[in-house]
Amino acid sequence: MSNLKKILTKKISCKSVWFMRQAGRYLPEFREIRKENKDFIKLCLNSELSSEITLQPIKRFDLDSAIIFSDILMVPYALGQNVKFTKDKGPELSELNLKLFFNTSKQEFSKKLSPVYKAIDITRKKLSSQKSLISFVGAPWTLLIYMLGLKENKKKISFNKISNKNPLEIKKILDNIIQFLCLHIKNQIEAGADVVQVFDSWAGLIPNEKIEDYCFIPNKKIIDYCRKEKIPNICFPKGIKERYEGFNNFVNPDGLNLDSEIDPLWAKQNLKDVVIQGGLEPKLLLDSDEEMLKGATKYINTFKGIPYVFNLGHGLLPETDPDKVRTLIKFYRKFDG
Ligand code: CP3
Repeated sequence: MSNLKKILTKKISCKSVWFMRQAGRYLPEFREIRKENKDFIKLCLNSELSSEITLQPIKRFDLDSAIIFSDILMVPYALGQNVKFTKDKGPELSELNLKLFFNTSKQEFSKKLSPVYKAIDITRKKLSSQKSLISFVGAPWTLLIYMLGLKENKKKISFNKISNKNPLEIKKILDNIIQFLCLHIKNQIEAGADVVQVFDSWAGLIPNEKIEDYCFIPNKKIIDYCRKEKIPNICFPKGIKERYEGFNNFVNPDGLNLDSEIDPLWAKQNLKDVVIQGGLEPKLLLDSDEEMLKGATKYINTFKGIPYVFNLGHGLLPETDPDKVRTLIKFYRKFDG
């Protein structure tokens, strides 16, 4: 059994490090491939290249886990939406066609995403058995935002557009997304992934009175499925502040990724029976070595002696110098703890 899986399944307490967006634009070898592959979705559907990109940071830094190069928006794509990534604008999706969405069969969905599963299969065979391969999905709420075009800008969601809709209709849409997310998880695990991480990147935008309906319950349905299927899982409800505690108690995932707003000591005291992952502010990698390592020390010291997976509070920024990543990994590995 691989390192992260052992930590996540609470079998051992050893050190483990990987970074969200470890395969991406900060790496010159990624930009090289990206230059020749302008269509991002097509690149995600190129199994050989996806696998190669997944392994780039492993080759460079010998990280403990690889995360498959894909995107959370591959699911809306497989459910009939066109997904376009325009530079500086973020993802743009064509209007959700409810008829197509509710009538997509499991076979069609799995077939459309088969190149992703093939990329996982290729990667698992190339990756050392000491390392885990992480698969992922977007959480239902985060996907809903993209699928319904609810994001007005980086911070604002138009809740009006949601409350204008019949709550039963929203629930029906969420439940259909959940069915397909569970299928996508199962397919990725069967293809060779060891773990799944559920990204709820926009959970922080949900008001308190809606947090159960849009975040806790949908995440719990997915984690209940993982538990039933014995799939090691990590949740990342980004931006929900002190509601992390309620989330952990309600959803009860194997692993929980901290965002950078959460104080690690608070997390250690309030988040029980879960393996903590991440938390370090990605912007610190743009700062001096001294500042970056001071930040890292806080997390490493706080979680000394208990299972903790070293990672960030969000993805590596495109402007990160790869040498900083190397320095950080080296420091973590040498740290006495
Ligand atoms: O972490 C990894 O290295 C694995 C690959 C991965 C990507 N996207 C590749 C990617 C993962 C885990 C994701 C998840 C993802 N995708 C999330 C959840 C995590 C988060 O960042 O909050 C979200 C919200 C998306 C949707 C998405 N994909 C956006 C908003 C964008 C454009 C803006 C951005 O952050 O780059 C993408 C494109 C994307 N996905 C890139 C990569 C490497 C950049 C593509 C490029 O322009 O070269």
